[in-house]
Amino acid sequence: MDSRPGIERLEQLLRQLERSPAGGHVSLVGAGPGDPGLLTLRAMHRIMMAEVVLYDNLVGPEILALIPSRAERHYVGKKAAQHALPQDEVNAWLVRLAQSGKRVVRLKGGDPFIFGRGGEEMEALLAAAVPVEIVPGITAATGCAAFAGIPLTHRDWAQSVTFATGHLKSGVVDLDWVGLSRPQQTVVFYMGLSAAAGIADALITHGRAPETPVAVIYHGTRPDQQVLVATLETLAQTINAEGLKPPALLIVGEVVRLYRPN
Ligand SMILES: C[S@@+](CC[C@H](N)C(=O)[O-])C[C@H]1O[C@@H](n2cnc3c(N)ncnc32)[C@H](O)[C@@H]1O
Repeated sequence: MDSRPGIERLEQLLRQLERSPAGGHVSLVGAGPGDPGLLTLRAMHRIMMAEVVLYDNLVGPEILALIPSRAERHYVGKKAAQHALPQDEVNAWLVRLAQSGKRVVRLKGGDPFIFGRGGEEMEALLAAAVPVEIVPGITAATGCAAFAGIPLTHRDWAQSVTFATGHLKSGVVDLDWVGLSRPQQTVVFYMGLSAAAGIADALITHGRAPETPVAVIYHGTRPDQQVLVATLETLAQTINAEGLKPPALLIVGEVVRLYRPN
């Protein structure tokens, strides 16, 4: 089979990407949930052309390996409650680097605009009149669900999907529990592992059936991906029994019944 026409088209697409912003600028690039095959062509191009890369802990090693050796690279965090560098300092560093004329890539797990503080970084850059582009990435919810074979919507089971944070602020997950507890919908919790017991209790208290299935996906799309299935009632106990650690996603809803372990 001759794959040449496809390769030529790919080369043409990559040439078009050469028209990236000139001069000092920042690309906020989404690296996806881990599998390097989920990078977009634009993300890959920006990484390979970068002069400086600031990256987070959720960016996988195969993606970091694409950073050219001539480029400076800096780890800037973050794990829950353990920020390597305060957000204001990351913002100020991005501004300084771009103003010194560098092609800067701010590389983030998933999508920069989904629970990734990309909005805050964009605001800081725009306020300093620094050119900034956003390169979207596959967010953890869609990437991990796809690799686990769990459709987030399904005409029979879920007519909507919500992405929510399970990150505790002052010890409370402050969400619209009444809305999230309605049937026929999927709710995906990011950063929800340590608050899983509270999340399950709140959903049950507000009307979601205790037997509603929940998938917990650790390191989704990566070679060591793990998928556990529980119900709202057994969630906390299952997580404790398996000793799961972040990063993990919780997918709550009837669609989880479609999961088939390999
Ligand atoms: C600060 S948020 C960043 C989300 C990211 N911007 C995105 O769009 O996926 C970090 C959380 O995303 C989830 N996450 C990211 N990558 C993941 C992966 N490969 N597997 C499971 N969960 C992941 C976890 O809930 C993790 O605690």
